[in-house]
Amino acid sequence: MTILKGKRILMGVTGSIAAYKAADLASQLAQAGAILDVVLTASALKFVTALTFQSLTGRRAYTDADLWGTEAHVLHVELARKAELLVIAPCTANTIAILAHGEADSLLAVTALSAKCPLLIAPAMESNMYAHPATQENLAKLAGRGAYITGPAEGHLASGKSGQGRMLETLELFGHIRLMLGRNGLLADKKVVITAGGTHEPLDPVRELTNRSSGKQGYALAQAAIDAGAQVSLITSVERTPPVGARIVTVRTAQEMLEAVLAEVAGADALIMVAAVADFRPKDIPDRKMKKKDGIPQVKLEYAPDILEAVANLKSGKKRPKVVVGFAAESHDLLENAALKLQSKALDMIVANDISAEDAGFSVDTNRVILLHANGESEALSLLSKFEVAEKIVNRVASLLE
Ligand code: C5P
Repeated sequence: MTILKGKRILMGVTGSIAAYKAADLASQLAQAGAILDVVLTASALKFVTALTFQSLTGRRAYTDADLWGTEAHVLHVELARKAELLVIAPCTANTIAILAHGEADSLLAVTALSAKCPLLIAPAMESNMYAHPATQENLAKLAGRGAYITGPAEGHLASGKSGQGRMLETLELFGHIRLMLGRNGLLADKKVVITAGGTHEPLDPVRELTNRSSGKQGYALAQAAIDAGAQVSLITSVERTPPVGARIVTVRTAQEMLEAVLAEVAGADALIMVAAVADFRPKDIPDRKMKKKDGIPQVKLEYAPDILEAVANLKSGKKRPKVVVGFAAESHDLLENAALKLQSKALDMIVANDISAEDAGFSVDTNRVILLHANGESEALSLLSKFEVAEKIVNRVASLLE
């Protein structure tokens, strides 16, 4: 992923047991290519050490001892100046109060005062402390100044009780960090609708016709569009962890997907139809389960709605997005079939996907695709991860929207 590569993130760690989760977050961010400067408060050092973070980030981690060192007069200014994002995770009630009141009694506090970059706060504390009007007022004050506050979640707390106070898990915080870093990306202010997964067409109340689409490529596209700053609606028929920031619309049948797409494309800039939508569906669905004793059922099929056709027939400029991208998953005559679909479905681009290869197409994590453009140009991409494919598609969509 490119969103974190080379990004300078300043991470503040404060005195909560959730500091152990901050170590995992630091590790994930560093592995994703971020340049991480970690500042620990004195109470954070009761739970974890500077060495923990130094070992995970490969860079020096700072403590209040550095505040009074020989470099002190520039250290906080330098740390703050270089940072593209300040993440305080976990952030205790004490640090929230310090930030809200602009106190300057620790290296983290003076660095936060000096920093002009966006601030992300991940609170962690006992539920009564979180609910206390003083904490709520301090958080409201910080939010009013533009801080992005995420969590805390409900669940088991260090006190042994259950309630709202847990710091968000690494994966979620990672998603919020991506969301913040992407805000001014190539697709900032653009609305993108993406469909993912295979549709399910009922045969009877318990059985259905479906396909092997995993939704991986569609979810990767949703994440890549969010990384590029887009506002994303993900219309999905699969249960996967959605990217943080996506609006999720869950559907099952082609008809439901059609309705969701028509509703979501209003005001959208781009539609990317990754979903493997059924072409046929059972015509008459009995309201009772088909019984074996009644013999082999003769299932009559009918066409399922063609979503891209319906979008193509929307009046241009009204509800139709400016850029429409389709996918063509084919087992034979890939390019011919894809080129036909590009034309017949009035697409700006089609992603041709050879599903006969073992390392591409359904379920696997890699994909080999050819991008066909409406102007006749084509680009064959090498074998890439589905996320890399998604980033390429998002870049092309951004160019088409320019
Ligand atoms: O299934 P097929 O290969 O024809 O799909 C090509 C493109 O058309 C895909 O982008 C798919 O999401 C879309 N499609 C659709 N409605 C259908 C079938 C496919 O919009 N009923």
